[in-house]
Amino acid sequence: MKAVSIAVDGPSGAGKSTLAKRLAARLGFIYVDTGALYRAIAYAALEQDAQTDEAVIALLPALDISLRYEEGAQHVLLNGTDVSGLIRTPAVSMGASRVSAIPQVRQFLFDLQQRMAREHSVVMDGRDIGTVVLPDADVKIFLTASAAIRALRRFKELQEKQPGVQTYEAVLHDVVQRDRQDTEREISPLRQAADAVVVDTSFADLDQSEDMLYAVCQEKLGL
Ligand code: DC
Repeated sequence: MKAVSIAVDGPSGAGKSTLAKRLAARLGFIYVDTGALYRAIAYAALEQDAQTDEAVIALLPALDISLRYEEGAQHVLLNGTDVSGLIRTPAVSMGASRVSAIPQVRQFLFDLQQRMAREHSVVMDGRDIGTVVLPDADVKIFLTASAAIRALRRFKELQEKQPGVQTYEAVLHDVVQRDRQDTEREISPLRQAADAVVVDTSFADLDQSEDMLYAVCQEKLGL
């Protein structure tokens, strides 16, 4: 049976990973968080002090990045080590945005992402899934919310993990800066595919947002 692919793109903090994960569980598909792949490269670059693009590119041949699933949860393995927790820091977020603008990094991850979608029915979230990685995806969703609301959500998340470490203003600043980096880069910038359905979650809670995504899939897949 042909694998079904659902592309979920949008800016950081729109709820992509939480919602794509829920949608995948509801449909019985595999959830692929492509941001985690860029984060794994950024983590390796930070660890090995690769500060220039050339230094990051030089690291690539020695990087073995793979995904493993345990009870539906995605784990990212970097050269055999599970880095799933280590890639969720603000420094790695900023680094991921930077390394994702390097063409060789995108090419390196392109094949891995396409292979996942060939082998499994997937809900894949990222920035360029509907436009570049899976241009023939069965369903394309562009998930968004205002920058202020996305920053507030990220701020609450960080507060729970490390209270008092970041101010809301600093988080908003990061969100705006990452939006700019992600949308203005030359290669595979974040943009909505012409045939994507836009879902704005600014005024919806998670359950409502999930229902909106599921409704789009029902219509497109004839469920
Ligand atoms: O979704 P995230 O915050 O984990 O993504 C981390 C960074 O990786 C983000 O700044 C943009 C980049 N990214 C990308 O360029 N293309 C993707 N398909 C996924 C993420």
